[in-house]
Amino acid sequence: MPKSSIPMKRQKIVAGNWKMNLSYAQAMSLSDAIAAAVKEETTCEIILASPFVYLHDVLRRIGHRDCISIAAQNVSDKVQGAYTGEVSAAMLASVGVEFALVGHSERREFYSENDNQLAAKVDRCLENGIIPVFCCGERLAERETNRQMEVVAEQLTAALFHLTESQLSESIIAYEPVWAIGTGKTATAAQAQEMHANIRQLIQSRFPNAAGKIRILYGGSVTASNASELFACNDVDGALVGGASLKAADFISIIHSCNQSERNLA
Ligand code: PGA
Repeated sequence: MPKSSIPMKRQKIVAGNWKMNLSYAQAMSLSDAIAAAVKEETTCEIILASPFVYLHDVLRRIGHRDCISIAAQNVSDKVQGAYTGEVSAAMLASVGVEFALVGHSERREFYSENDNQLAAKVDRCLENGIIPVFCCGERLAERETNRQMEVVAEQLTAALFHLTESQLSESIIAYEPVWAIGTGKTATAAQAQEMHANIRQLIQSRFPNAAGKIRILYGGSVTASNASELFACNDVDGALVGGASLKAADFISIIHSCNQSERNLA
């Protein structure tokens, strides 16, 4: 497995993406279960990306703690005004949202979000103190023709390479191969490490000081049973978890694997 050429200690993240799932009652009981399981000595950072309407109450349930935060699953590319149905980065920040997913493949596919919009969403986040979790990843046909790096490099360049080095250092990338999302077909640890190391090299070519700092999460069918292997990869700084984040026991087990991998590094 290729090793990172840019070693640096980065705090790992376990992020749950609930997507358009869970009733209000289910979302609250999941929040309570996670809050009860997450102790202050937790070494990784936990992020819950709940549907917009639950965000404020999820934050109340988890309490204002350093190790656990909330994320929006989407954010408007516009600042404010007559954009019916949109939610601005300023609104999110005003209810305590610290992170926002940008460019999830489901947004690209079902809502035709394009590179220009995604770059604008990243900007709106950063203007409002929200950390963008920028999602990228290739489709199956692109991997089968060995174009995965080219595709991911284009996505990253278009949406993130206009940032300053310090803005990029703070941002988070989630590499989510489209063929692995919700399919039960996880990338192997070697495939994940290879792509993450390549992403870091790409960043280093333009932003040498950001490359070692930026956190790159893996997403796509992460489960309680494959998480440890992924977390053991040098350039995998955590996971963006969809299906397995909806079950408290599975998500908590992934958090434990993450804490364990941090302890192994210590
Ligand atoms: P999954 O989703 O874990 O269900 O594959 C991941 C994601 O879409 O963020």
